Amino acid sequence: MTSVDQLTVPLAGDVRMPLLGFGTWQATGQAGYDAVLAALDAGYRHIDTATMYGNEREVGRAVRESGVRREDLFITTKLPPERVGRERETIEESLRALDTDHVDLWLIHWPPATPGDSIPTWRELLAARDEGLARAVGVSNYSVSQIDELIQATEETPAVNQIRWSPTLYDRRTHAAHRDRGVVLEGYSPFKTSDLSDPVLTRIAAAHDASPAQVVLRWHIDHEIVVIPKSVTPERIRANFDVFGFSLTAEEMRDIDALGR
Ligand SMILES: NC(=O)c1ccc[n+]([C@@H]2O[C@H](COP(=O)([O-])OP(=O)(O)OC[C@H]3O[C@@H](n4cnc5c(N)ncnc54)[C@H](OP(=O)(O)O)[C@@H]3O)[C@@H](O)[C@H]2O)c1
Repeated sequence: MTSVDQLTVPLAGDVRMPLLGFGTWQATGQAGYDAVLAALDAGYRHIDTATMYGNEREVGRAVRESGVRREDLFITTKLPPERVGRERETIEESLRALDTDHVDLWLIHWPPATPGDSIPTWRELLAARDEGLARAVGVSNYSVSQIDELIQATEETPAVNQIRWSPTLYDRRTHAAHRDRGVVLEGYSPFKTSDLSDPVLTRIAAAHDASPAQVVLRWHIDHEIVVIPKSVTPERIRANFDVFGFSLTAEEMRDIDALGR
């Protein structure tokens, strides 16, 4: 499957974000480099990193050596909240480490500790977007009301909110609140927050000749929720990408949704 065939979700400004990406938290040094190279080789075209992960240099090197064209890739990085006031310097450092002149998505990693800092920080992200350093900008770990404050102050909606998400954390109202505002929901830690031996997941997996982990990923995709599984294990990296050959029925989706508490 090429990047063109991958399922994507549109963001403002003619940007398309692949629904399945590759997570890189705790994948550092040589292991991080090897994992990203294996992911690109397996077909992932969306890589999630962050200043805080300390692996942007390895991500950049893997991208360069993979031979994948930059325009075929979607790269996200994130501003740590302690860099508030030093946004411009931080994105420039990220771009140097990633060896690219822009990222596809730049997120505020966590709401700043001082609530009053959120809006000025958001304005800095918008300025970076307007200068072409990021094609889209958004937030992570924001509540819907914190997103509303940004929209109210700037009339600019974050393209994405990256939050912890999985069948167990499924909440229809939170999903709808993001959709209603035009904010793409991106889930993180899909496995760490799942019980992969749950009988609902194992039953549905068996029906599709898939694994429960693949069902969890496909459930996100069928909800049009972006998902970014991480692995440093080559077989898992490949298996986690091999989710485009099946999809879940409406009934299966409902059964998995019901795992949400
Ligand atoms: N915005 C934020 O605040 C935030 C916070 C957390 C994470 N994230 C992002 O989201 C990404 C994913 O979240 P995460 O890394 O916390 O957790 P995750 O992707 O839910 O889980 C990763 C763990 O699951 C294992 N694993 C991978 N594939 C598996 C499979 N098919 N079956 C069973 N186990 C499997 C991995 O092991 P091996 O690696 O040993 O194979 C690793 O221990 C991160 O890497 C990061 O990019 C963002």
